[in-house]
Amino acid sequence: MLEKITNLAHEIIASEISDSSELEAFRLKYLSKKGIISELFDEFRNVPSELKREVGRKLNELKQNAQEKYNTYKGTIGAAEDRSGVNDLTRPAYPFPSGSRHPISIVRREIIDIFSRIGFVVSEGPEIEDDNHVFSKLNFAPEHPARDMQDTFYIYRNSVEDSNPDDILLRTHTSSVQVRVMEKQKPPIRTISPGRVFRNEAISARAHCIFHQIEGLYIDENVSFADLKQTLLYFARELYGKDIRIRLRPSYFPFTEPSAEMDVSCNLCGGKGCNVCKYTGWLEVLGCGMVHPNVLEACNIDSKKYTGFAFGMGIERAAMLKYQVNDLRLYFENDMRFLEQFRSAF
Ligand code: PHE
Repeated sequence: MLEKITNLAHEIIASEISDSSELEAFRLKYLSKKGIISELFDEFRNVPSELKREVGRKLNELKQNAQEKYNTYKGTIGAAEDRSGVNDLTRPAYPFPSGSRHPISIVRREIIDIFSRIGFVVSEGPEIEDDNHVFSKLNFAPEHPARDMQDTFYIYRNSVEDSNPDDILLRTHTSSVQVRVMEKQKPPIRTISPGRVFRNEAISARAHCIFHQIEGLYIDENVSFADLKQTLLYFARELYGKDIRIRLRPSYFPFTEPSAEMDVSCNLCGGKGCNVCKYTGWLEVLGCGMVHPNVLEACNIDSKKYTGFAFGMGIERAAMLKYQVNDLRLYFENDMRFLEQFRSAF
């Protein structure tokens, strides 16, 4: 009996299993109820009692080894056969990382969508512009500080001392696109201009030398400040939620008169006051105003017949308020841990 067990142990070690049918044959031969090992357990009854201890131990060991061999092969053969036919080694490993939109793109699309629902169409223009479209036609006086090298990235200046309409620079706002629209189209005009803008600023949590804007322009007969206010209220409610409140504070821009800055009630504290709104309950979101008659005239639009309003906002700022992200630099660093958090947004 002991010899039988030893031989069988060798046989089991030596037996080759290369596919699932051989594995099944192995199971039937050694491990099934009518298999060899079961038979040996039946014979065990007849083993003289003084040998029972040793034979029993060997027999259990044999059964255990056979079962282990079976289990190991079952795992590997099963997995290999599951994969047969799809052995594409160039395939990326699971799970596939799915891309997501950048938060700036999400908010840009959302703002465009909100204004397109009330008839605004998107217009685009060059990032490398001339002084004429960025400043001169927008009623900036020749000595206006925004034209200063400290604010503007110049590519070519005709004179170091004076600004010149032909100077080439990186646009500091997308109002330049609206000048191009006014030059080409006759009112009524209803357009929004999203795009990258450039300002010579030190990078900090609140400022960057490259950022994104969306500016809007509406020109027609009898356009009033009330139209501007109602349009902005509609916009704020769509973007930040229907409970948002707005307020307009007097401000100054060369290209609008009167000019205002719009604040929205702080969406973090609901207007009660917190450290994001610096305990004022309000957050500044955009600049706006009635288009200055000089701007209309510079673009050959009759300022006696037509009036219009304009507004402009930073997309980063709008996104910061929407997502309560308070460091603007995060939008430029492409840190996956930050970007992945916007996966579910549209
Ligand atoms: N162009 C202004 C800026 O860049 C924003 C603005 C647009 C203000 C239109 C008033 C009207 O800050």
